[in-house]
Amino acid sequence: MAVKTDSYLMSINGEWVGSELDTLDVVNPANDEVVGTVPHGGEKEAEQAVEAAYEAFQSWSNLTAHDRAGYLKKLNQLMLDNQEELAQLMTIEMGKPINESRGEVKYAASFIEWFAEEGKRVDGDVIPTHAAGKRLHVWKKPVGVVAAITPWNFPAAMLTRKMGPALASGCTIIMKPSSESPLTAVKLMELCEQAGFPKGVVNLLTGSSSKIAKVVMENSKVRKVTFTGSTEVGKTLIRQSADQVKKLSLELGGHAPLVVLDDADIDLAVKGTVASKFRNAGQTCICANRIYVQEGVYDEFVEKLTKAVKELKVGNGTDESVDIGPLINQDGLDKVKRHVDDASSKGATVMTGGEPITDNGGVFYQPTVVKDVNQSMIVMQEETFGPVTPVEKVSSDDEAVQMANDTPYGLAAYVFTENVSRGTQLIEKLDFGIVGWNDGGPSAAQVPFGGMKESGLGREGGHEGIEEFVESQYVSIGLH
Ligand code: SIN
Repeated sequence: MAVKTDSYLMSINGEWVGSELDTLDVVNPANDEVVGTVPHGGEKEAEQAVEAAYEAFQSWSNLTAHDRAGYLKKLNQLMLDNQEELAQLMTIEMGKPINESRGEVKYAASFIEWFAEEGKRVDGDVIPTHAAGKRLHVWKKPVGVVAAITPWNFPAAMLTRKMGPALASGCTIIMKPSSESPLTAVKLMELCEQAGFPKGVVNLLTGSSSKIAKVVMENSKVRKVTFTGSTEVGKTLIRQSADQVKKLSLELGGHAPLVVLDDADIDLAVKGTVASKFRNAGQTCICANRIYVQEGVYDEFVEKLTKAVKELKVGNGTDESVDIGPLINQDGLDKVKRHVDDASSKGATVMTGGEPITDNGGVFYQPTVVKDVNQSMIVMQEETFGPVTPVEKVSSDDEAVQMANDTPYGLAAYVFTENVSRGTQLIEKLDFGIVGWNDGGPSAAQVPFGGMKESGLGREGGHEGIEEFVESQYVSIGLH
C-alpha cells in the first residue's frame, strides 16, 4: 500500500501545528531515503502543550471511568482498522520487518483495550477503623499531566503502554516520540482525533528531546514523566525530577541472560532464543543478549542455533519474506561491530555472520552467532542492541545464576529447562523483573513489564500499570 512521505505536524490543544524552528528529516535505515519530515518542536511548543494538557485535565479527570473507556475503545478499534497504514509507516521509518510491524500494531492496540477496562477497576479502600467515631477511606486520584517520552524501537506500543493507563485513569498526556521514528506517533495522534478525545487531552510534540524534556522536567504542572529508553537518560531524569519530586516511571536498559540447562528441550531452546534475540533485529530491551548453556548440551545447542540463524533472511522490512531488517542508524551498527570484533579478538569463534552488510545502501548487520565468549568481553557486559547471539559455556545451575546476575541490569531473563524443581529454584535466585521459562516472548498487555536494579522504576501493563498514574488519598472521616 502507498504511504504518504510528506510533511507531518505536531498536535497541541487539538490543533495541528508546525514549529517556528526548522523541520527534522525521518530517514529509512533500510535505504537512507527521507520518508517524511516533522516539526523541530522546542521549548515554546512544549510550554503550550503543558498548558493545554493542564487545562484539559480539569474536565477529563471529572469524567467517569466508563466515559473515558468509551474514547479508548474507539481508539483501539481505529488502530485495528488502520493496522496496515500504521505498520507500513513503522517499517519505513525504522526498518522493522512488515510482519513484526503488523504484530506491533495489534500489541499496541491491546494496551488501549486493556486499560480501557482496567480504568473501571481503580478501586479505593474502606479500612476497618480503630475508633468508633471514625471511618477510614482511601480514594484514588489521577496524578495530573503526564509527559511520555518514548523510544524508536517500538514506535506504537511504547506510546500506548503509557497512553492507555494515563488516559484511563483521568490524566492528560503530552507525547514525545523519538525523532528517529515519530511518524507512527503522528498517525496515532490522528486516530486520537478521530476517536474524539477532547482538545488538550492528548498532545503530540516532535523535535528536540533535550528542549522538550527540559520544559516538562521544570514545569511544575507536569506531575509525572514516564520514559522508555537508556539507563543513562533515565538517571538524568531521576536527577532532574528531584526539585519538584515529580513522579517517574522508567523502563530502561536490559542485558537479558538466557540460560539453557542440560535437561532442556534443545529445539525449543533454539526456537526461543531466535524468537527473543532476533525480534526487531535484536533492538529490543528484553531480547536475549547473553546465552549461558550447560556443558552437556553446549555443542548441540550451538550447532542447532547456528543452523537456525543461517536461515534468517536479511533485507528491507517492506519485503514480506524478510526476518531481519536494518539497524536504526550507523551508531547502532558501529556498536554491534565493536562488540563482535572485541569478542573475536579475545578468542571467541564466529559461527555465522560477524560482518556488516554493505551492498544494499542501508545499515545492516549479518545475523550472528559467536561461541566460546566469556564475561571479560564487551558483548557480555553491555547491551548490544543488534542481531548477535554470544554463547558461553557454564557448568552448573549456580554458575548460570551467578553469571546471569553479574550485571547492573535486571529487566528480563530466560530459562530453558524441563525440570520444574530446578527451574523454580533457579528463577527464584534471578534478579530480573520478567522471566520467560521455556518462553522467548513473555510480553502482553495484562502482565507487569519492568525491571529491577538499573533497568528501571515501576511497571507498565497489567493492573500495576495503572497504579503508576494514580495517587492514594487517605480520608479519615470523623462522625458526629
Ligand atoms: C522493549 O523491550 O523494548 C519492549 C518490548 C516489549 O514490550 O515486548
